[in-house]
Parts: sequence; C-alpha cells; structure tokens
Amino acid sequence: MPPRRFWVAAVLILVTCGLFGQPQAGKIPRAVVKMHLAPELQQAPGSFSLKAAGEPIRVLAFGDFGDGSKRQREVAAAMLQYHQKQKFDFAVTLGDNFYSKGMKGVDDPRWKTWWDQLYDPLGIQFYATLGNHDYGFPQSPEAEILYSKKSPSWRMPAARYTFTAGWVQFFAIDSQVLSTQQLDWLRQELDASKFRWKVVYGHHPIYSHGQHGDSPRLIRDLLPILKGRADVYLTGHDHDMQHLKPEGNLHFFVSGSGGKQRPIRPGPRSLFAKSALGFAMLEADGLSLKITFIEKSLTPLYEYTLKK
Ligand SMILES: [Fe+2]
Repeated sequence: MPPRRFWVAAVLILVTCGLFGQPQAGKIPRAVVKMHLAPELQQAPGSFSLKAAGEPIRVLAFGDFGDGSKRQREVAAAMLQYHQKQKFDFAVTLGDNFYSKGMKGVDDPRWKTWWDQLYDPLGIQFYATLGNHDYGFPQSPEAEILYSKKSPSWRMPAARYTFTAGWVQFFAIDSQVLSTQQLDWLRQELDASKFRWKVVYGHHPIYSHGQHGDSPRLIRDLLPILKGRADVYLTGHDHDMQHLKPEGNLHFFVSGSGGKQRPIRPGPRSLFAKSALGFAMLEADGLSLKITFIEKSLTPLYEYTLKK
C-alpha cells in the first residue's frame, strides 16, 4: 500500500491537470463547458442572409491567428492588401481566434490590438467559430459571442449558426463541444437546405496530415453527418494549408496559418499540403466552388474547383 503522501500528491496532480491543462478536443468535461457557455448562447439563431440568392460570392477564410505576433500582423496586412484589389464579401474564422486561452471578457484590451486594429480596416464582417484555445478562460466563449454587439467587424451570433450567401449555405459549428443537440441540429439544417453548395466550417479537422492528425472523435460523430450532405468541410487547428482527398463528394480543407505556422509532410490523403502563413479564399457561383490558398506574399499556392 503506497503511503498517504502518494495519494495526496496523485489527487493534487489530477485536479491541477483538470483545472489548468490546455484544452484539447474532447478533453473538456461537458459539465464544465456548460458552465462556461449559457445554453442560449450555444443554440443556433435562425438563418440569415449575407448576399442575395443567385449572386456570386468571394469569402476570406482563416484560423489560428490571434497572438499579437508579427506573423499575425503580416497575414492581416496581406488580407487587407488582397481585399483592396479583389473585394471579399465577408470572412469566416476557423477558431483559435485568440491564444492561448481566448479572451477574458468583452473589455479585454487585446480586442483592440489583436482584432480591431488588424481586421476592422477591411470593412467587412467576419463570421467566427470557436477553437480549443478559445475555451481557455471560462468566460472566453461567451465574451467572443457578446463582442459581436461591440464590433463593426466581429460576428459570432452563437457557438453554432447557419447563414446563406449567394448560392451557398454556410454552417458554423463548435467542434470543441459536439453535443448531441448540435449534431442533430446540423443534420436537420443540412437536410433542409436547398442551396447549391453547403459549406460546413469549424476548428478541428476530421482528417489531417498536420501535427494533430486525424480525429477519431470527429470521424465517428461528425463525418457520418457530413457525408452525402455537405460539399466542403473547412477547418483550422493544424497550422498549415491542406486539401485532403474527398470522401464521396465531401472535400476537406485546412486553413490554419493566419498567424501560426508549423511544418507538414504530405500523407496518403493529401492533395495539397504546405507549411505557409496565409489564408484561403472561397469563391462560388451556381456552377462552381473554388478554394484558393494564398501565401502572405499574396502568391496563390494552390487552387481547386468543385463543379456541379
Ligand atoms: Fe486548435
């Protein structure tokens, strides 16, 4: 029988890891997450429209950026420069919006320096999703939702929501907390959608040849809902750019280098894999949906067009 001191130390280590460990996909107990985010802020509001049906759209997409670094500022400046030549209609963020523990509240001073000053100048709205780092401070997810009321550019109507633009319906999901309610909502919304293109976006990839690899949790819970219903699953989390082989008609893209960069080696599922700071652009009309990866020097690195 180990001495009593051993058991005290073991319990202390477990409690400390539980309270202060880096939040990772699937590792936050659901009861704790519910305390962080009131049920009404998890619920999706009704769908809304950003651009009239039938119009072509151009959308900026990036994740993994908010750390106040020179890299973040350089990629933000590149987005602005690109936007001045070819206008984006709006943007989506793919989570890990603010390192390393999200925001302390709507009055956290980093909103000004890590968000307003860098992205307000584009003059568009950014429809954001939550990543694992955005669940760091207990109050962070709520702060990110509520800041939508204080900002001309930041938009997070809830932890999950859907909207339409042109020929596309977008579905923003909270991949950190994939509750049964959220999965049911997503399946129903996808089934009900009459739009030509259905794009689901969030933070965690289902498949990835980046540092985090495949997600058994999402392969089990999310993939069966997306397959046969959505055209694109767009994420961040790995700090690189990837296009992975489709399953059926479902294509997988990772754009997680809006401020962070990590090496990547292509794997069996890779159609494209590159370690580069930059962003993705999604362009869609009634006939095609094109994803382009653009490096911060504004060099296009890869493009792929889906057709219907
Ligand atoms: Fe992440």
